[in-house]
Amino acid sequence: MENEINQGNIIPMPRIGDKAPSFKAVTTQGEINFPEDYKDSWVILFSHPADFTPVCTSEFMTFASQEEKFNQAGCKLVGLSIDGLYSHIAWLRTIKEKIEYKGMKDVEVKFPLIEDITMEVANKYGMVQPGESSTKAVRAVFFIDPKGVIRAIIYYPLSLGRNFDELYRALIAMQVADKFSIATPADWHPGDDVIVPTAGSCGVAKERMDNQTDINCYDWFFCTKKISKEDIEKGLSSK
Ligand code: BEZ
Repeated sequence: MENEINQGNIIPMPRIGDKAPSFKAVTTQGEINFPEDYKDSWVILFSHPADFTPVCTSEFMTFASQEEKFNQAGCKLVGLSIDGLYSHIAWLRTIKEKIEYKGMKDVEVKFPLIEDITMEVANKYGMVQPGESSTKAVRAVFFIDPKGVIRAIIYYPLSLGRNFDELYRALIAMQVADKFSIATPADWHPGDDVIVPTAGSCGVAKERMDNQTDINCYDWFFCTKKISKEDIEKGLSSK
């Protein structure tokens, strides 16, 4: 997959498993050196199409209201749009001073919002998708782990506001997968059964199916086990 930019240059789109492309940028919280400044932490780098637009405003108010929850889960937030710093500052001030939406008011956005008027960062991350818009970033979400590796990418079109429960669910699911060496099934939430790795041989699979104690096998390739919410909390709070 490639990402075409202005002068006919082609740059590869970052993919799951790639190191997060590095950049330095000016933000509403000062300069950042990405992803170095976020070493040892998860980070969600997300783009929005434009300041002073309604869907983006609803998203920023939601992200800011949930920032503490993401931080508690060891994840920092960084936003970006193809707007300048003064536009960002004016928009965030308007949100704080004037907008009351769905019970959220006086909302202060404390995480950095990158100014990217040159589109340098947006292009590096494949956030400008010309079929949708060549002047605005789509709603991209990059989940980057503490080693600076891209672990998940979600793109939404301009008209579609993101589901923040899903962003949080995906973050926790990846952390649980790492910690417990398991995978998570469709619609998994903490406390639901998780998927244990497929047995490496028929013998192991048969033994597993014959001795189903804590493991439940639907067939040789599909086994689950329980991990309680408490064990997940304990596991994620220990390094
Ligand atoms: C919005 O955030 O409302 C929006 C931004 C760009 C295009 C369409 C909608």
